[in-house]
Amino acid sequence: MSAFPTAPPAPSGAQDFEIRPLPGSFAAEVLGLDLSRPLAPADFDRLHRAHLAHHVVVFRDQRITPAQQVAFSRRFGPLQVHVQKKFQLAGHPEVLIVSNIKENGEPIGLGDAGHFWHSDLSYKDRPSLGSLLHAQILPAEGGDTLFADQHAAYDALPEALKTAIAGLRAEHSYLAKYEELRARSPWRPALTPAQLEEVKPTVHPVVRTHPETGRKALFVSEHFTTRIVGLPEDESRAVLDELFALSTQPAFLYRHRWQPHDLVFWDNRSVMHLAAGTPDHLPRKLYRTTIEGDAPF
Ligand code: SIN
Repeated sequence: MSAFPTAPPAPSGAQDFEIRPLPGSFAAEVLGLDLSRPLAPADFDRLHRAHLAHHVVVFRDQRITPAQQVAFSRRFGPLQVHVQKKFQLAGHPEVLIVSNIKENGEPIGLGDAGHFWHSDLSYKDRPSLGSLLHAQILPAEGGDTLFADQHAAYDALPEALKTAIAGLRAEHSYLAKYEELRARSPWRPALTPAQLEEVKPTVHPVVRTHPETGRKALFVSEHFTTRIVGLPEDESRAVLDELFALSTQPAFLYRHRWQPHDLVFWDNRSVMHLAAGTPDHLPRKLYRTTIEGDAPF
């Protein structure tokens, strides 16, 4: 018999995996977990807690199908279908293709997703709880995704600014940058009346409270936030520009350098994200699922 005690066996169906913080102040990676296998309740609880604690969770080496990505995403809540129906994955309307690839001259995915800092679907009455992005084809260089911790950004605001924005509400609109993006990209068709109906502007608190952790976070973005309700236009612009600049300072960032088969799951109630850019000639393709969250308060 070995002189060394062995680790207790994992509970029935549980997998033996590690959750390791990544360098920086948030984000963690999960090693040794296989999401193509059924997930034991205890494993799900561990992942849920890790998501709340680290805000961005990187599942390494996930050889999962789109159906398995959809099934795992659904464990956290109902999925949201993106207004750009053109870029849904065939047979999986809940999967948005994010890609710069063209086939027969036509884009196969939304190539400029994440061009500006944002929290996914903040223009909806019930914005996204979190999003999952699964690497399919990665460029040899570039293609990183940046995340900005909005709890840290809020905590670091000068007290006078915290007081000034307490209780303020801001408008979010899918159309805020639409024409600007459309003017320089092949990915943004004119929206139909039915699509416009899906993305009517909405109003959310400038500072939201995370519904599960109770922590406060800034909730305005350069992509979707158009104005602060009740302030004169110039004052609203000045406050928003100040908040946009403060919310994405280097100290609050995690830069994700994609590895093959990474599945990245972030908390849209805690972080904003930005696609750092991919050289046009290098193909990149990822599959995104988006989980519906609560109405921010
Ligand atoms: C997104 O904003 O969902 C896409 C981010 C990325 O392509 O890196």
